[in-house]
Amino acid sequence: MRICCIGAGYVGGPTMAVIALKCPDIEVAVVDISVPRIAAWNSDQLPIYEPGLDDVVKQCRGKNLFFSTDVEKHVREADIVFVSVNTPTKTRGLGAGKAADLTYWESAARMIAEVSKSDKIVVEKSTVPVKTAEAIEKILTHNSKGIKFQILSNPEFLAEGTAIQDLFNPDRVLIGGRETPEGNKAIQALKAVYAHWVPEERILTANLWSAELSKLAANAFLAQRISSVNAMSALCEATGADVTQVSYAVGKDTRIGPKFLNASVGFGGSCFQKDILNLVYICECNGLPEVAEYWKQVIKINDYQKNRFVNRVVASMFNTVSNKKIAILGFAFKKDTGDTRETPAIDVCKGLLGDKARLSIYDPQVTEDQVQRDLSMKKFDWDHPLHLQPMSPTTVKQVSCVWDAYEATKDAHGICILTEWDEFKQLDFKRIYDNMQKPAFVFDGRNIVNMEQLREIGFIVYSIGKPLDAWLKDMPAVA
Ligand SMILES: NC(=O)c1ccc[n+]([C@@H]2O[C@H](COP(=O)([O-])OP(=O)(O)OC[C@H]3O[C@@H](n4cnc5c(N)ncnc54)[C@H](O)[C@@H]3O)[C@@H](O)[C@H]2O)c1
Repeated sequence: MRICCIGAGYVGGPTMAVIALKCPDIEVAVVDISVPRIAAWNSDQLPIYEPGLDDVVKQCRGKNLFFSTDVEKHVREADIVFVSVNTPTKTRGLGAGKAADLTYWESAARMIAEVSKSDKIVVEKSTVPVKTAEAIEKILTHNSKGIKFQILSNPEFLAEGTAIQDLFNPDRVLIGGRETPEGNKAIQALKAVYAHWVPEERILTANLWSAELSKLAANAFLAQRISSVNAMSALCEATGADVTQVSYAVGKDTRIGPKFLNASVGFGGSCFQKDILNLVYICECNGLPEVAEYWKQVIKINDYQKNRFVNRVVASMFNTVSNKKIAILGFAFKKDTGDTRETPAIDVCKGLLGDKARLSIYDPQVTEDQVQRDLSMKKFDWDHPLHLQPMSPTTVKQVSCVWDAYEATKDAHGICILTEWDEFKQLDFKRIYDNMQKPAFVFDGRNIVNMEQLREIGFIVYSIGKPLDAWLKDMPAVA
């Protein structure tokens, strides 16, 4: 059997590498229109950072795992074609700011129809709005020249930072297909691939629409938990409760569970906001404005949380950060990834720059070039293939990136911790304090520092949802 995956990104690369590792009898080709991306997959410096990924790729690359820009050849030869291309939010026209832009998906589908010479199973791996499969099916069948295509929805639930672990041991694999004998046969064929390593009871099957909607629903539920605890964090700060204690007590209820209850500066990543906007749009299109409003609140609270954080920083530092050096520790949207798509750091940095701060940024996995792109790019432009993104002609001058937390914090007035990298917990804060301007501030957007220890050193500390430092009392968090 031959598998081809269109789109060698955060999803296509790791998922296919794991399929190749677990199914030595299957030949897997991952193809992309981006030449540099494929070159990186074929080099020692993979294009994405993901713990354990290097090892998996090294074991199978050149044996039964291939990365190529020859998209048409590999699609033509494949029995199963996964499509894992970008599905950005539309920036103009009907549904702008909410609906998914299916340009890349549609062009991939048209190409599959054009080059195919044998029957194929086409698998939706990208997250797509409900009923996309129906549209894709139409494109394929209207251009099929007698070839039979079966379309399946197989949304990916991996989390960046733990992608390999998640793929090795998924909570569930979901396969949606047509409820016809041919549809069922296609489902069984894909099931047989996963059955190489996933226990049968964890491979769920559903109809196409349910599978598509399940992915949007799962992300909406996850993001909603974060917004719920973040909403509580604001109340905790106002009343003197400690959000860590509250979420611990809440999470002990087995009906609720402890995961995804950490208060923070806000969620980020390529999926949560995009998928909720999609869900909102679908609800609106189906005449369900109340449901749409309900889910919109999850994003509103996330934006509120980022604003609140910036306001805390500025208000504490005598209501101005103009020309003050602020160290930003962490730029990725979470630890163990170099991914910065929709990271809360972008909005926090933009907020501080708006108040004319000078930023010194350190993240162990994010390059200066990426930071500059992120800070100068328009909303939603990030979700297009790299070579189609607008170049950033101007760099943001008040921003510099360094490769060391001590360098970033030297002579700084304040520190904002925006990613929960483990190494930030081990920092020598006494050394940092000694090299900073006074009063020295720490704003912990991930609740990873020991507030008491830092206060003993002399820092003024703000931690999300924790009882406020005397310094911050009576300072409004929201303008
Ligand atoms: N990142 C995640 O954690 C995650 C998790 C689950 C689902 N998803 C979904 O999976 C999809 C892909 O996400 P990603 O994070 O891998 O994106 P990505 O931007 O990392 O990768 C997409 C790749 O597709 C390529 N591409 C676009 N059009 C193409 C075409 N016509 N032919 C060949 N290649 C093409 C791009 O060059 C790019 O390399 C999205 O729909 C996303 O919402 C992402």
